[in-house]
Amino acid sequence: MTEPSVRDLFNLAGRVALVTGGSKGLGRSIALGLAEAGAATVLVSRHAEEAAAAAAGIAAATGQASRGLAADVTREEEVTRTVDAVLKEHGRLDILVNSAGINIRHPIEEYPPAEFQQVIETNLTGTWLCCRAVSRVMKELHRGSVINIGSALSAVGLAERTAYTAAKAGVLGLTRTLALEWAAAGVRCNAICPGPFLTEMNQPLLKTPVKAKAVLELTAFNRWADLHEIRGAAVFLASDAASYVTGAALYVDGGWTAK
Ligand SMILES: NC(=O)c1ccc[n+]([C@@H]2O[C@H](COP(=O)([O-])OP(=O)(O)OC[C@H]3O[C@@H](n4cnc5c(N)ncnc54)[C@H](OP(=O)(O)O)[C@@H]3O)[C@@H](O)[C@H]2O)c1
Repeated sequence: MTEPSVRDLFNLAGRVALVTGGSKGLGRSIALGLAEAGAATVLVSRHAEEAAAAAAGIAAATGQASRGLAADVTREEEVTRTVDAVLKEHGRLDILVNSAGINIRHPIEEYPPAEFQQVIETNLTGTWLCCRAVSRVMKELHRGSVINIGSALSAVGLAERTAYTAAKAGVLGLTRTLALEWAAAGVRCNAICPGPFLTEMNQPLLKTPVKAKAVLELTAFNRWADLHEIRGAAVFLASDAASYVTGAALYVDGGWTAK
């Protein structure tokens, strides 16, 4: 039997990817990478126009089909409706990237419980709901790759981020458990754990340069990551190149957690 070439292994032609948080930041960058590797993409965010604009940009840049849809990942019925829409349009769903996320920073005694809830619901419950919605679909297809976006803060703590670190640690637990639940059905589940990327999420940090500098110094490279630096990890985990990889956390964190 001839072995597949590396080019074949990384090729996503014919695959369909759903990317939550795909309208901007890491989600949009990952969606572009998946499209460059040949996948059709569906981008989700709460704002229809932003998701549609990001999708139009990806379609124009790659020639691959890309659509933007509005959905809130914390709402079960909106998640279900989104997966149904993908199946109606494409008849399949091979890749799910859970990149929708928020971060709110306060010392714990100043942290409003409602904001704690919001961070947990978006980063953890939303990821869980999306995994739940694709589970039967991918198991029936007997293939699929789910990529959950954790963080360097899945593994280490950082002051003023109690909700975020709790949610991101939870994402790894969810990832490992689903890897076991889905393995027999041929569905893989992994996490990417990024370090600091200068997306909208991190704009508040720029207002206090001392804090931004301190975060960068936690990495071995002492710099922000460029947005394209997330793509290789995502294409790898989405593709057949990672066919024996499940339950893993791939740290794209500039050496933060190596310290
Ligand atoms: N940037 C970093 O340094 C970094 C580091 C580690 C991990 N991460 C993780 O990477 C992921 C992406 O972060 P980012 O930096 O790219 O953030 P971003 O630029 O702020 O983008 C966040 C995306 O999530 C969407 N979103 C937020 N809440 C949502 C909801 N309830 N339902 C659907 N979509 C929602 C946003 O669109 P709408 O607001 O329009 O809904 C947007 O598309 C997050 O999980 C984040 O925790 C980021």
